[in-house]
Amino acid sequence: MPDVMRAAVLHGIGEVPRYGEFPAPVAGAGEAVVTVGAAALKPFDRWWAEGLHPASPTVFPQVVGADGVGRLDDGTRVAFFGPVTPYGGMAERALVRRGLWFPVRAGVDDVTAAALLNPGGAAWKTVVWEGGAGPGKTVLVLGATGASGRIAVQVAKREGARVVAAGRDRSVLDALGADAVVRLDRPKDEVVDAITAHGPYDLVVDYLWGAPAEAAFAALSRGNERRVRYILVGMSAGATAEVPAMALRAARVEVIGGGTGGSPSIEEAAAAFDRMLGLVAEGEIVLDAEAVPLADIEDAWTRPENGRRTVLVL
Ligand SMILES: NC(=O)c1ccc[n+]([C@@H]2O[C@H](COP(=O)([O-])OP(=O)(O)OC[C@H]3O[C@@H](n4cnc5c(N)ncnc54)[C@H](OP(=O)(O)O)[C@@H]3O)[C@@H](O)[C@H]2O)c1
Repeated sequence: MPDVMRAAVLHGIGEVPRYGEFPAPVAGAGEAVVTVGAAALKPFDRWWAEGLHPASPTVFPQVVGADGVGRLDDGTRVAFFGPVTPYGGMAERALVRRGLWFPVRAGVDDVTAAALLNPGGAAWKTVVWEGGAGPGKTVLVLGATGASGRIAVQVAKREGARVVAAGRDRSVLDALGADAVVRLDRPKDEVVDAITAHGPYDLVVDYLWGAPAEAAFAALSRGNERRVRYILVGMSAGATAEVPAMALRAARVEVIGGGTGGSPSIEEAAAAFDRMLGLVAEGEIVLDAEAVPLADIEDAWTRPENGRRTVLVL
């Protein structure tokens, strides 16, 4: 009889994953089995399951979850990503290509490491590695109240940049420690005025697209005195944005997609992740994560997140 495990299993595009049994993975050449301790539920996981991502599944059933934290056979604790399908992170065991992981230092629990992995990695890559945030630079974070935006604000501040945090939730915005805030739940003209007033910008980190991006381009086209790099990381506010040609022609802006700027080496990314874990352990970077048993995946999948990252635990 084949070995089975408990897992969050997707049975079709657009369905809510169900807690159930799934055949346990067996490692082939160049692969390793990870015994999972925790796996975060991210926007990517939902879009993947809804068929909105190029890598969305076409064969069912499949285990959900693009990453996680657990132990290799030799006991080493790792944060892994890109598990080999049909296995995902939200299961007792995941199948991973050897080396597609970062070591996880002692003193940080699985839930914290799992919560940090995706938003922390994206924040470091965007703000520091691609964005070059630092002293004398001004960074606008669109979507600063989300799990990723909150970390991006903190990372940019630690790098010494001046940070303008834009989002809808005033209480979250005020608690972020940004140098200025922009309310996005205002009429467009007010948003454009507020973004303009807090510039000029060197870097825009956009987790939203949609209407906030339209407002940002309108503001940048008013004469941002500096050349600005605009990095699109997410689309929580919309898959499309109407950007007039003149806004792009008038602004000294370079627009890049978060996935297009090349990739740091695994060693560079692992070192950055380890540094961030240390900062989280010291309370220098604050994360808001909630551990939820994997058995409750259906409820976790459908409830609103409000910036707090849900982490499924085994
Ligand atoms: N490429 C990568 O590696 C990578 C990594 C991390 C994230 N991302 C992407 O970045 C995006 C955000 O991720 P996340 O982890 O921060 O997600 P999240 O924790 O779910 O946060 C989403 C945020 O979007 C805000 N939002 C939604 N609609 C909005 C609107 N119309 N106007 C203003 N704010 C709006 C929400 O604000 P409220 O609190 O007001 O509802 C919430 O704070 C997603 O698209 C994700 O896929 C990409």
